[in-house]
Amino acid sequence: MAYGLGIESSCDETSVAIVRDGKDLLSLKVYSQIDSHSPYRGVVPEIASRAHLEKINSLLAVSMEEAGINYSDLDYVAVTSYPGLVGSLMIGAQLARCISLVYGIPIVAVNHLEAHLAVIGLEREFPAFPWLGVLLSGGNSSIYMYKGFGDLEILADTQDDSLGEAFDKVSAVLNLPYPGGPYLEAKAKAYQMKKGEGNPFPKLLKEDGEEKIRFSYSGLKTAVLYYLRANSETPPVEKISYFFQKTAFELVTRNIRKAITKTGIRTVVAAGGVLANETLRESLETEKQRSKFNLFYPQKKIYCTDNGAMVACLGYQLWKQKSFVGLDFKVSPKRNFEQTL
Ligand code: KG4
Repeated sequence: MAYGLGIESSCDETSVAIVRDGKDLLSLKVYSQIDSHSPYRGVVPEIASRAHLEKINSLLAVSMEEAGINYSDLDYVAVTSYPGLVGSLMIGAQLARCISLVYGIPIVAVNHLEAHLAVIGLEREFPAFPWLGVLLSGGNSSIYMYKGFGDLEILADTQDDSLGEAFDKVSAVLNLPYPGGPYLEAKAKAYQMKKGEGNPFPKLLKEDGEEKIRFSYSGLKTAVLYYLRANSETPPVEKISYFFQKTAFELVTRNIRKAITKTGIRTVVAAGGVLANETLRESLETEKQRSKFNLFYPQKKIYCTDNGAMVACLGYQLWKQKSFVGLDFKVSPKRNFEQTL
């Protein structure tokens, strides 16, 4: 039996988790900093790192108690080392170094984006590689070719705003609270579409041929703004939310189709904060029936947002491969960071 600790502090969630054999969750604690950042409608790096520092030790203590193990029982400490806010990553990294130094436990440095995709290992057996990893979060709209643990290749990326960012910015102009995703989703659900009604927003990236796979949401954001200005007397918030989601998700499913055609890979794993959205989940399920592929995404919504369990889960696979780092490992804001020791 192997016990692993996962530490996540890359952005605005402080989280630790303890996992047995990479799949049994013994404890997961998440402290969300949303209340601290919402007055600014975005994550303030200085506030984030201070909040991580304030919370992380007490979360760890509670988690260890809940799991009913001692530090000396741990086989590895997995920690997010990139990408993320450097000041925030350093808090988690320092905690991992302390535990490693005191108890002689190996450190596994984890790619946050890969951990989002690998979290499905807590809910089911991993499908056979390679997969198409579709990551839709506050910082990413990308599709990866996931060839094996620690081996990702980017296939498609965003040119500007990520999908989560577009949700947050559009919800801001609609005067919805921050972060806007869940509020915008609720407004969209409440919309009763009228018969024959057309989409007021243009199809995204319609000029792209079958070869080009990319995301871009800034045009949709601008289209929403102009539509709102033209309807400022009684802003149709529910209608805008409904068609914003419809337009945004159509680009996701189109890009998945293109990625399948390009690579021939028919296993799709979708993850990230935006996967908490029920309408997106339904769109992916519909596309799965239409284009005939295997689809996996976290069933538990807590596994969609940033959490320590995904770090411990991926950490177990990397630990089995003996991908350890020394106490002098680095953290980085970069997505394509290579650890040099
Ligand atoms: O993966 P995540 O927790 O962290 C970052 O990338 O920072 O994703 C956060 C993003 C935010 O932009 C938030 O608005 C979005 O996920 N989000 C949603 C929903 N819940 C969270 N977007 C759409 N619908 C939701 N229900």
